Amino acid sequence: MKFRVFRYTQGDDAPHYDVFETCGVPGMSVLAALTTIQEQQDPGLSFRSSCRGAVCGACAMLINKVPRLACRSQVTGLTDKKNLVHLSPYPALEVTTLWDPATEVLVEPLPHLPLLKDLVVDMTAFFDFLQSVDPVFHPREPLPGKEFHMEPDAVRKLERFTNCVLCGACFGACPVNSRNPKYPGPAALATLYRFHIDPREHDPGSRILAADTESGWWACEFHTNCTRVCPKGVPPAFAIGRARNELKQKRPGPPTRDLGDDGPSDISR
Ligand code: SF4
Ligand code: FES
Repeated sequence: MKFRVFRYTQGDDAPHYDVFETCGVPGMSVLAALTTIQEQQDPGLSFRSSCRGAVCGACAMLINKVPRLACRSQVTGLTDKKNLVHLSPYPALEVTTLWDPATEVLVEPLPHLPLLKDLVVDMTAFFDFLQSVDPVFHPREPLPGKEFHMEPDAVRKLERFTNCVLCGACFGACPVNSRNPKYPGPAALATLYRFHIDPREHDPGSRILAADTESGWWACEFHTNCTRVCPKGVPPAFAIGRARNELKQKRPGPPTRDLGDDGPSDISR
């Protein structure tokens, strides 16, 4: 099996692609293939990983032009119909190298973040955006003697968002992030919404206001790439649509300018 891998080292005039051949057996992940290539063919090949089990979020990269976790992507079956993901276009999805999708796996770094080396990007902006929504629980008072009790339905609603592993795949899949450096991105907004709907928060109604800006909730164009690529089933587009709807209801009268809609009706999760 062939892997066409993006290569870049600081100081290079331009990036290039190297083609490696290694065995691709059923059950092998793209991360395992990259590790084999690094161990046996090119020790300089750089990529991030840690848990190898879709938990740490370190190994997000562009695989066959879809942001995915390398540890969760099997080398065989990437082109199976059930694994195809159709995304709204943005510049990084343009194919800029010779690539035969029938015989090669194309591996590139996550888009929209500064490139450090090969498949490693600088995640600082992604985490700065996350920090900007204050991703911290502020409990209402008085605190209960033991734990807060929650209804099962409220737990179910929160769980979808707490599953985020901060991999950045949604950030790399978002056409708005490709051109708007002020847009916090799907994961940060989904995290803000997660605290907004938490019934244990002391003032959930005010948290949603933190992103009530043109570059916040209202910058989303509902391409829904984020929800389609998320490896953990988090639905950022759903959160953004709900938040916008709530903000519209809060406004004392009709909006004086078009602040966008609440998203397509088929964002079901
Ligand atoms: S929402 Fe999904 S894709 Fe985005 S950072 Fe979290 S786990 Fe990754
Ligand atoms: S190595 Fe941890 S998510 Fe892939």
